[in-house]
Amino acid sequence: QAPPCTLVVFGAGGDLTKRLLMPALYNLAGGGLLAEKFSILGVDHNPLTDDGWRDDLTKTMESFAGDPSAEFHPERIDPQPWGFIRERLHVMQGDFSKAATFQDLAGRLSGNVVFYLAVAARFFGPVVEGLGKAGLLEQSDGAFRRVIIEKPFGSDLASAKALNETILAQGDESQFYRIDHFLGKETVQSILVIRFANALLDPVWRRDYVDHVEITAAETIGVEERGRFYEPTGALRDMVPNHLFQLLTMVAMEPPGSFDAEAVRDEKTRLVTAIRPISPEDAVRGQYAAGREGGRDAAAYRDEPDVAEDSRTETYVALKIAIENERWSGVPFYLRTGKCLADRRTEIAVHFKPAPFTLFKVKEGADPSSNVMRLRIDPEPGSATRLNVKRPGPQMHLSAIETGFRYADFFEPASTVGYETLIYDCMIGDPTLFQRADTIEASWAAVDPLIQAWTDAPVCFYAAGSPGPKEADELLGRDGRAWLPLG
Ligand code: BG6
Repeated sequence: QAPPCTLVVFGAGGDLTKRLLMPALYNLAGGGLLAEKFSILGVDHNPLTDDGWRDDLTKTMESFAGDPSAEFHPERIDPQPWGFIRERLHVMQGDFSKAATFQDLAGRLSGNVVFYLAVAARFFGPVVEGLGKAGLLEQSDGAFRRVIIEKPFGSDLASAKALNETILAQGDESQFYRIDHFLGKETVQSILVIRFANALLDPVWRRDYVDHVEITAAETIGVEERGRFYEPTGALRDMVPNHLFQLLTMVAMEPPGSFDAEAVRDEKTRLVTAIRPISPEDAVRGQYAAGREGGRDAAAYRDEPDVAEDSRTETYVALKIAIENERWSGVPFYLRTGKCLADRRTEIAVHFKPAPFTLFKVKEGADPSSNVMRLRIDPEPGSATRLNVKRPGPQMHLSAIETGFRYADFFEPASTVGYETLIYDCMIGDPTLFQRADTIEASWAAVDPLIQAWTDAPVCFYAAGSPGPKEADELLGRDGRAWLPLG
């Protein structure tokens, strides 16, 4: 059970609070992980009353039940854990830019507090400054004061550094928990276990045996109502230095000396620092044009709400990345992510080198397939490995088969939103799954040259519902390789 604490949610009336935080707290309550003396204090610039907020959230929670399109959709909302949360909800109105808000807060808070910044990124710095100036980040009498900061953490290296400076002027690094929700995904956490707890895999996880690695985060949805945020952001900033690099670190980092938070985060930073600056020739930026998606006509990005009609924002990125260290030198890592693609799929595919000599070469071109291990994250967590076997029959013919498992076959599927572990970890003071200042800065440093080079670069168009721009196929084609097919 987590220690007693107050969770202060800035952005109480916002979307994140409704869709993700409340379901996560409900699940934590259901698991008996919250202390009796746990409470929640929402802060919002709109006027809300305790009862009004409680009723609103109850309605939203109930609307999720049985709705498969919601991230969280249990069959029904269990009144016991929801009652536990509901009666602990309080809310106050406050302008995040006014000192009075923080004075007001200081009058209400004592003991352990986690501040959750579920607000637009432009408020991260001001809220932390407000907290610091009101003395709310001082940890006295053994009580903790921690701050969870959502993404995006900066929009390039300079802004990420400036934000780190601002927040670290108000508190110690150990008080700041920078979220990357990919690290809340169970199967992402499992990558280190798969790699380091299986003697079968650990020795071959290196340049001598691995030919290349593919990391894909493909979405079928478009930019939806987020044009205002997405236009100045684009797929590179939105997905690469955070989510994709987290997948990259999990699959490529060196084994840490222990599972201690700092040991793990040291290795992650070391890995990201070893990324060679990405040249524009090794990068493809795409944008979806009109097409067909899920049997329906899909609009072009430029026709989405709050998007300029001549927008050059990328909704797709493909990159070839080189890691300069002893383990990975010469092994390309191909990353791709995009919206409105043919398939919803997040996975890492490790392609092994061909078997050393083709003993079974039966006819021209019928070489054994190379082994590929796919670590599947979404939508169906599991793993699949391509192996060669003999096809039954009198002749020595080979067939490639896929052997694997689905988490759902072995474990009770949990209706979680991925924030449960993250919130719980913050309450117990375990920052392993959060981003440290130096990892974030190293990640931005790796993509910054590309951000600069892309200021005026044109985009390659791809039809909505397709696997992406043809230029992305050429990126691998040049190296005699191909992406695993999407769709
Ligand atoms: C978010 C991005 O951080 O991650 C979104 O801002 C993206 O643009 C989302 O859609 C993807 O997350 P998931 O968990 O749905 O793969």
